[in-house]
This record gives sequence, C-alpha cells and structure tokens, in this order.
Amino acid sequence: MKRIIAPSILSADFKVLGEQLKITEQAGAEYIHFDVMDGMFVPSISFGMPVLASIKGFTTQVLDVHLMVTEPIRYVEAFAEAGADILTVHAEACEDLEKTIEKIHSCGMKAGVSIKPNTPVSALEPVLENTEMFLIMSVEPGFGGQAFIPASLEKIKELRMLLDKKGIQADIEVDGGIYLTNIREVLNAGANVIVAGSAVFKGNLKENVTGFMEIFKEYE
Ligand code: DX5
Ligand code: ZN
Repeated sequence: MKRIIAPSILSADFKVLGEQLKITEQAGAEYIHFDVMDGMFVPSISFGMPVLASIKGFTTQVLDVHLMVTEPIRYVEAFAEAGADILTVHAEACEDLEKTIEKIHSCGMKAGVSIKPNTPVSALEPVLENTEMFLIMSVEPGFGGQAFIPASLEKIKELRMLLDKKGIQADIEVDGGIYLTNIREVLNAGANVIVAGSAVFKGNLKENVTGFMEIFKEYE
C-alpha cells in the first residue's frame, strides 16, 4: 500500500496557489486535496468547479476532491468535467450512496466515501466492494486547523481489518489535524493517504512536505 501525502489547499495562500502547488509537487506530494464546502452539509463555504478547472492541466498531481456537499450526485458530472480524478462523497449526505458511486464511476473517476467522526465504520459496509478509497474524518468537517480526534485511530484500525478480512485493496485516507508529530500513529492504524492542510501550508512548504516524505520512508 503506497503512502501518499495529499495537501489540502483549504489552507493554501490563494494569491500564489500555482506556485505553492509546484512546491508541493516537487517535494513529493502526489495528490492535491480539494475541500469543497457548500455551507449546508458543513457551515463553511470554500470553492468549487472553476478553481478546480484552473488547476487541471497545470499539475500532474492527482486531483483528490472531497465533497462536503448535500446530495453530491447533483455535482458529479460537473466535477468530472472540471478535472477531478477522485471524487469523495459523504455517506451522510447521499440520498442513495450506491447510485452516487455508480454515477462517479460512469463519469470516469475513482470513487471515495467519507464518514464524519460520529458515523460508525459499519455505515461503509454496503459499499466496501465498489469503492476505491475511504476517507475517515479525524475532525468535524468544515474547518482546517482543528485538533485531531484520537478516537479516529480505532475507526481506521476497524476499517483496515474489515478490508483485509474481505481481501479488499482500498485506500484509507484520513483528513484533519494531522502533523509530523502524530502521523505515525495514523499510518500504524492502517491509513495510507494523509490529508494535511495546516501542516503543509503553514511555514515552509518544501520542508513540511519533505518531513512527511521522510516519515513515509520509515515504512518502506
Ligand atoms: C475539514 C477539512 C480539513 C482540512 C485539513 O473539513 O477537510 O480537515 O482538509 O485541515 P488541517 O490539516 O489544517 O487540519
Ligand atoms: Zn477534506
């Protein structure tokens, strides 16, 4: 299972977003995590298709789009057209989760399903076979810079055991409050895609990403 850092641009400096993405790419970040918030499913509003489209083609990084959006099936085609490679929806936000996943696949994207801190891993059981990535929120979705919720580690372990028991090779992504100081426990719990906003975009971007990449080397 490849370990990947996915910098969340929610914490980026939008005055120089392109320059910052070049720095994270050159330092080894293979994904860009794109936190879309609609002000309904979560209290904040962030950004949407036009910003994503402006990034597409500018970078070879995988565009890992996290929809914190009510009834996201409405926007699957639009995010495919804007260039999303992975489209992650919240189990709590979908009228029909399986239909939403089918729609994501029919638009040529990988499907991700996310659960909030208070949603049990069992909510993912109906879609384990047909989903490429699962996103365990380690903070309440809506804002960057929050503290990591330690109970998330048990959920990551539970999900990884469930996937292993069924022989399913899916990625587990974790998002929220992850820093160089706590990433090892997240990796040890079984996660392999790490979202980091503040830990990457606050301070020296190159050093921050390099720090994560150095820790990944401990697992090779
Ligand atoms: C919450 C957002 C944040 C963001 C990462 O809705 O999804 O978790 O990506 O924020 P940091 O890394 O700053 O906690
Ligand atoms: Zn996110």
